[in-house]
Amino acid sequence: MRLRASAAGALNGEVRVPGDKSLSHRALMLAAMTVGETRITGLLEGEDVLATASALRGLGVDVERSADGSWRVCGVGVGGLAEPDHVLDLGNAGTGARLLTGLLAGHPFTTFLTGDDSLRKRPMKRVIKPLGEMGASFLARSGDRLPLALTGRSDLIPITYEQPVASAQVKSAVLLAGLHAPGKTTVIEPAPSRDHTERMLRHIGAEVMTEALDDGRSAVTVTGQPELAAVDLPVAGDPSSAAFLMVAAALGEGSALRIDNVGVNPLRTGLFTCLNEMGAVVRTGNGASAAGEPVSWIEVDHGALQAIDVPPERAPSMIDEYPILAVAAACGRGRTRMTGLGELRVKESDRLSAIAKGLEAAGIRVEMGEDSLTIEGCDGPPPGGCTIDAAHDHRIAMSFLILGSVSKEPIEVTGAETIDTSFPGFAELMNRLGARIEKVT
Ligand code: S3P
Repeated sequence: MRLRASAAGALNGEVRVPGDKSLSHRALMLAAMTVGETRITGLLEGEDVLATASALRGLGVDVERSADGSWRVCGVGVGGLAEPDHVLDLGNAGTGARLLTGLLAGHPFTTFLTGDDSLRKRPMKRVIKPLGEMGASFLARSGDRLPLALTGRSDLIPITYEQPVASAQVKSAVLLAGLHAPGKTTVIEPAPSRDHTERMLRHIGAEVMTEALDDGRSAVTVTGQPELAAVDLPVAGDPSSAAFLMVAAALGEGSALRIDNVGVNPLRTGLFTCLNEMGAVVRTGNGASAAGEPVSWIEVDHGALQAIDVPPERAPSMIDEYPILAVAAACGRGRTRMTGLGELRVKESDRLSAIAKGLEAAGIRVEMGEDSLTIEGCDGPPPGGCTIDAAHDHRIAMSFLILGSVSKEPIEVTGAETIDTSFPGFAELMNRLGARIEKVT
């Protein structure tokens, strides 16, 4: 699918965004480990999460959709999954694939996992290593990539794992495996990454402790073999999806946007800080709580954006937001420098290159380092007038459509169907707010 975004005026209105992708994967997987029936509301019905739902069905879990965003999962208990009789295909979902390896590590059978062209390129060594130390065995393609075969065991060994890079997916995989091991399993993170697994596990009755270490790292410990309770799991809107609307509103003169019911976990809101520092106005409420997660409305008003230095320690709290932050920087005034971006190279695409190449094609001056990006802002609408291939990366597709909405000439995005992995209805929602994104036939 090819979409074209053309310059539009202000964005105004009050909307909701689809459910949080991270929470939706976790809600399905954790519900599967409870004893009883869980009702999930607000679930993201994007391709990634649907792939996780169907993988769980392949593992013998009764997962059913009852209405828009409302799903029912009959838990099989910790260690209760059944051997699948076919290869599980996680599509584009890195979170689905990596978290699932954690669950499967605690089961004494062999599972074959694969994914789409993008997921089959992504490194799996980061989960193979700790789960291997716990006793699971893997047979993977060269470079430790999918497709792979995983044989778990019911007598996993609890470990303490020191992560070389902050990654919530790896931390979660080890914690989920730890649920199947006797005793305590600990993950030490170099910096705190999103803590959704910890919060949701506590919410359903697991014992999870987080401790700040003297050297600045943090340690998360789960106690294995709990009985997990089937309780309602409401999923709020995804701040990483809200991010596209927020930047569009920050850039559009006269814009005033309100997004209701969004997750505002402080380990996800680095972009909010950046936009405020750049001169937009981002407000949130006090944060009601849903299944252990803070949730709020978000209001964004346009502001004349100025360049900032984005510090590397902010990366874990906005790791998925760099493509759209780059769009904000491209339209602002001055040079924005972002560092500590090494992890962007192993996302759905090599995002660092995809951002740099796309911005250059749109007439913006960029310098890319091994793990850094410097963007020369245009202090107004960039030239635009290019075609960008999404290359199976939903966030690249949406970011360049937002750039097209504020550029002098339209931007077209090919492979735009990938947007459905995380934000079904993105173009329609943007157009309702005043954007001009249309299908090119
Ligand atoms: C996610 C963690 C992040 C993020 C991804 C979702 C999660 O990945 O980029 O979109 O749900 O745990 P890493 O763990 O690789 O940083």
